[in-house]
Amino acid sequence: MEKEYWKKYYKNKLNKTLPPPSQFAAFTISYLNSYDLTVIDYASGDGRDSVFFSNYFSKVYTVDQVQGISETEITKHENLEFLYPENLSRSNIQTDNCIVYARFFLHAISDEEQSVFMQNMKELLLPNEKIFLEFRVDEDSTRTKATEAHYRRFQTMNEVIEQLKLFDFKTLYSVQGMGFAMYKEDDAFVARIVAERI
Ligand SMILES: C[S@@+](CC[C@H](N)C(=O)[O-])C[C@H]1O[C@@H](n2cnc3c(N)ncnc32)[C@H](O)[C@@H]1O
Repeated sequence: MEKEYWKKYYKNKLNKTLPPPSQFAAFTISYLNSYDLTVIDYASGDGRDSVFFSNYFSKVYTVDQVQGISETEITKHENLEFLYPENLSRSNIQTDNCIVYARFFLHAISDEEQSVFMQNMKELLLPNEKIFLEFRVDEDSTRTKATEAHYRRFQTMNEVIEQLKLFDFKTLYSVQGMGFAMYKEDDAFVARIVAERI
């Protein structure tokens, strides 16, 4: 969604110092008790969380419709690889135990794209593998944003939990509120879900 917008957004940031990792990335590291995993950072943007993960996990795929991560970062971290979404399949990646991490992705895509994503995740992940989601929810729709207006879609946490069930994911952990994704004056009202493929 909004390919041209994101292309321009990340082009302006290339060759600048990467921002610090998100609070959700730190949460993900703390939640897991093994780092012997392949991480798929889906809709990774400038790759700041992918780079952070590459210090912990055996392999990190940084996946996005546009390449927002610089080649310099990719060459600096030998376990980090950029993929376009159409090249993401089980046969194309290191097939260790995988997790998918998708931060601020669900609200950046349409309802239809979300259904396609859920189906793709159902096909990609094996039983017991987890998906980590963080996204803006309804309560965030009228709140102050730090970045200019662009496409943002709001839904409820329960809607996503119900949809995950339809695609064979069981929710292990969920929480919503503020203070989880602070960025300048933007204290987003978000939901976090950790779900497991059944
Ligand atoms: C709000 S940014 C989130 C970036 C990063 N995860 C973060 O939290 O900093 C949304 C990202 O979703 C990507 N995106 C939007 N639609 C996509 C799609 N259909 N497939 C893959 N990536 C997509 C955009 O290119 C953009 O990098």
